[in-house]
Amino acid sequence: MDFFEYYANLFGPRWEALQKALLGENKPKELQIENATPYFLDEASFFAANALGVLPGMDVLDMCAAPGGKTLVLANALKGEGSLQSNDRSPDRRERLRRVVMNSLPENFAKIVTVSGYPGERFGRFRPESFDKILVDAPCSSERHVMNSKEHLSMWSVGRIKRLAVEQGSLLASAVDALRPGGEILYSTCALSPEENDGVVRKILKKRKGLIEVLSIEPLFEGTEQTEFGLHMLPDLCDGRGPIFCAKLKKKA
Ligand SMILES: C[S@@+](CC[C@H](N)C(=O)[O-])C[C@H]1O[C@@H](n2cnc3c(N)ncnc32)[C@H](O)[C@@H]1O
Repeated sequence: MDFFEYYANLFGPRWEALQKALLGENKPKELQIENATPYFLDEASFFAANALGVLPGMDVLDMCAAPGGKTLVLANALKGEGSLQSNDRSPDRRERLRRVVMNSLPENFAKIVTVSGYPGERFGRFRPESFDKILVDAPCSSERHVMNSKEHLSMWSVGRIKRLAVEQGSLLASAVDALRPGGEILYSTCALSPEENDGVVRKILKKRKGLIEVLSIEPLFEGTEQTEFGLHMLPDLCDGRGPIFCAKLKKKA
């Protein structure tokens, strides 16, 4: 099955409009923190990072942070108090993340940010119960990006969705273990398929049974869809924003 057949089956008659919106303009938001260089990120991405509810003084982990748009939102919420570990496994993307942290944050906000390059799956084992808040903005199918690239389209397969869902599940399990009791996780992806979104949350609720609960998130944009465990913002209904799925989990105290 090819990419277009797969998503046409998934979305039915909606696919035509969604496909057009995915190829169309997105909705970037300018994020300028004090006098630092402005950074542009999708409004739905801004919303998701903000939904984690970070406050000054907290210890925060951004597990998959590059190129860094959401890290800026988290650092802006910390206001230079507490700590933010912005982690990404890819060396090239991590260099971009370093530049974004250096250029788009004022010095007093950047001083509490540490950039690291561990596989996210390791945090649970090596930093257990260490963070108040964790953002898991997981690697995903990124269909909006794939659709705009012949090279990526040729590499797409149903098997890739399944492999990504397994990886996303491992990252999320690691985040649960690295979280302090009472702490919260925001799981997000820019994937279209439920397998990488609600499906991953459903599995973690089984895998870490009794340890976590799902919190509700108040939607902001018209057209946001409520899913079994979170919110999905898709560009055909959200005026070009997204795609972003987000779900919030709390570790029981
Ligand atoms: C969706 S992107 C993150 C976007 C970023 N949060 C932002 O707002 O700019 C996913 C990132 O996860 C990183 N990644 C992939 N697998 C990883 C792993 N196992 N551990 C840590 N990072 C990983 C990729 O290099 C990529 O930069």
